Amino acid sequence: MNKLTHTPDGLSDVFAYEYARKKEVESKAVEVFEKHGYTTVQTPMFEFSDIYDAASTLPSEQIFKFFDKDGRTLALRPDITTSIARMAATKLSATPMPLKLCYVGSSFRNDEAYSSARQREFTQTGIELLGEASNEADAEVIKMAIEALKAAGLEKFKIDLGHIGFFNGLVEEARLDSVTTAKLQRILENKDLFELKKFLDECNVSDQIRDVIIQIPSMFGKIEIIEDVLEKCAINGQSCVALENLRLVCDILTKNGYAEYLSIDLGMVPNLDYYTGIIIKGFACKVGFSLVNGGRYDNLTEKFGKKMPATGVSIEIERLITALADRSCEDDEYVTVALAKGRLADYAVNLFDAAGYDVSAMREKSRKLIFEDAQNKLRFILVKAGDVPTYVEYGGADIGIVGKDTILEEGKRIYEMAAFDFGHCKMSVCGKDELQLGKQDVLRVATKYPTIAKQYLHYKKGRTIEIIKLNGSVELGPLIELSDVIVDIVESGKTLEENGLRVFEDICELSARLVVNRVSIKMKRDKVLEIKNNLVRVDKNEL
Ligand code: PRP
Repeated sequence: MNKLTHTPDGLSDVFAYEYARKKEVESKAVEVFEKHGYTTVQTPMFEFSDIYDAASTLPSEQIFKFFDKDGRTLALRPDITTSIARMAATKLSATPMPLKLCYVGSSFRNDEAYSSARQREFTQTGIELLGEASNEADAEVIKMAIEALKAAGLEKFKIDLGHIGFFNGLVEEARLDSVTTAKLQRILENKDLFELKKFLDECNVSDQIRDVIIQIPSMFGKIEIIEDVLEKCAINGQSCVALENLRLVCDILTKNGYAEYLSIDLGMVPNLDYYTGIIIKGFACKVGFSLVNGGRYDNLTEKFGKKMPATGVSIEIERLITALADRSCEDDEYVTVALAKGRLADYAVNLFDAAGYDVSAMREKSRKLIFEDAQNKLRFILVKAGDVPTYVEYGGADIGIVGKDTILEEGKRIYEMAAFDFGHCKMSVCGKDELQLGKQDVLRVATKYPTIAKQYLHYKKGRTIEIIKLNGSVELGPLIELSDVIVDIVESGKTLEENGLRVFEDICELSARLVVNRVSIKMKRDKVLEIKNNLVRVDKNEL
């Protein structure tokens, strides 16, 4: 790459039509905010990095940092809310409340470039409503987000609501420590029922709490679900207060004609750590990531000297433009299924067959990559196993069937909604001579799974390792002394046996999983759940 002619990864020049379109969308949103009494403010592009540390805005490695000439650490803003909270608690602290502010500008995150459907520099517009703790204030910011999306021309979208208090209440009652809580949050973030069951079996919580937590991954859908949970689940304290808050806010929005845009997800995990109440995420089809993010953050301004209740919402302009460009999807009744080529392919095809779907076209020998079951409005795509999570994350496929090994390795933001009784195998550390594992200062590891190998051998076992990434026939590594060990899947154990290798340690058990795009589950909920239920009902003997 020529550094004189290229922009840094994840940053781009915007010009001509693209620039005009961006300004048009931004100004439509800001117009809505200003019409409703919000005043536009501008905050600095960079701040002392301390404000983001104090606010726990994001993990430090996701923030671009640099020094000024006095050696103070500065940070490019990863969001605008933190700066506005600082501004409200300091310069605007004497202004009569409530404060209604809006903004538009770039934020910067040191994510992997070109990931998550956004650049490292992206544009946010949004509002902050400070000094108001009421349900009406919560409802107002949601209403503003809906009105801004509508004004920009988006027709089909969902504003998904959760509440951090619901989760916190359960955690408090269950008396989970912070490490266990973080693990539970990660599992819930993936709606991974299989892992959740394992987690609850291992952790010491009362049956009453267990019964509620186990249902969290399925506590999403229409707003009536709040009532349902309040009636049927034995919850109390903070969790109950949270649901009451959510219910009252939904009531206000329903009375004002916004019910069609709302959905609920009680398992929602916030993107940023400073939220204290309702969490808001907005989705449109074909953008696999939330284009609206927000929620209540009552403890944030206190970090900057004045405590005041606050709530707000932001819209990511580039993601909104992508959603606006892809109107074709709005009537797409089809569900696209990504199936992994290779060892799971036959099982997966048989699974859909046994569940009553027409897979005959896939059984014919051809080099076609897309197949349809027109009657059930299913579209199958055949992709490399390692690509299934990517297709599903970006919304190229709504659902997919793939091995847990691939899910762990790829680390994509997808829901993992069912575990099937096929594709069973283990991820193991293997080699010729067990001594190799103990005696090397730097352990050379050949693998198709560098992430899993690093997580286990380096982070968990504390070994210094050198990873040698191979794409297959990994067993050759120790045989020709390219590596000391391998990290690989072991199914029957035959490949190891025939090559004189042995398992030293098992890392984890694996099987085939149903993965689901985070937006499809909101936009095509009934159909996706119907497919999931049909698939999990299939008996292993039918495959
Ligand atoms: C997998 C894996 C092992 C083998 C294990 O390879 O990488 O080599 O299967 O199965 P077993 O325990 O039943 O012998 P795959 O067949 O996918 O081919 P590859 O080596 O080319 O990746």
